[in-house]
Amino acid sequence: MITEKACAKLNISLDVSKPRPDGYHDMIMVMQAVSLCDDIEIEINSSGKVFAKSNLKYIPSDEKNLAVKAAGLYFEALDNRSAGAVISIRKAIPVGAGMAGGSTDAAAVIRALNRYYGNALSPEELLKVAERTGSDVPFCVLGGTALAEGRGEILTSLPEIPECTFVICKPEFSISTPELFKALDRIKLRSHPDTAGIISALENGDLKQICRRLYNVFEDVPDRRMRTVTEIKQKLLSGGAEGAVMTGTGSAVFGIFTDAEEAYAVCSQLEKDYGFCVCAEPVGKQI
Ligand code: C5P
Repeated sequence: MITEKACAKLNISLDVSKPRPDGYHDMIMVMQAVSLCDDIEIEINSSGKVFAKSNLKYIPSDEKNLAVKAAGLYFEALDNRSAGAVISIRKAIPVGAGMAGGSTDAAAVIRALNRYYGNALSPEELLKVAERTGSDVPFCVLGGTALAEGRGEILTSLPEIPECTFVICKPEFSISTPELFKALDRIKLRSHPDTAGIISALENGDLKQICRRLYNVFEDVPDRRMRTVTEIKQKLLSGGAEGAVMTGTGSAVFGIFTDAEEAYAVCSQLEKDYGFCVCAEPVGKQI
């Protein structure tokens, strides 16, 4: 039995370019791995088949689950046709939240299998398997703080974010990723994140300057659900957050706090208001 933690990701910033011929969009994102995580257990067998089980009933057990797809692609990269696995996923990361929950389970499977097989694949080869699995999977394999470009597969590790507490709140609704990309294509963006400014603030270890630049272009989509996003951001800021922003295509919103006690106080209030709110810390590089 092998075990691995699957950390959630947050977008410190998220910028989107025009649609590409393949239907995807080029992105420029500063990503952060955090301590909110799913727990993965893998039993390897020689059935040649992979399936998943989870504490949540609606998590698929077949290839529709990125964790199953990742294991299949990992075995394929090893040219091992007889290897099979049963993957148990204990979900703590909310689904449909913009925190790469499915992608990070897949990433944890890739790291865990590589450990089991004595680091048979190099970090570069692992990232290739991740890229074939899905757009957010390469960052989730790498972890830490990183710049992600292209579909998310072009990664540059950045200096770790200074010590802080994240308060992550998810309202009850979820937002469909393809739907939000389509809505974004129909509007002209008002503004873009200052990615270079975030990178230099990370280099200087200046948390205040990072927090001032939190920005996600998806918040500009005219959608009434963004009113709730704005409302949560305001509550985080009035509770003492240095900055607040939606992550990915939502619906989760997070604030960054320097004072952990303030963070815990806001967190328990927002949990009452919206149903899901947790505190988390930054997590460093995984490979
Ligand atoms: O990567 P994932 O399968 O989660 O993406 C879901 C959908 O979101 C894609 O089919 C595409 O419509 C949109 N997407 C995009 N550009 C990206 C990532 C996702 O247009 N970089």
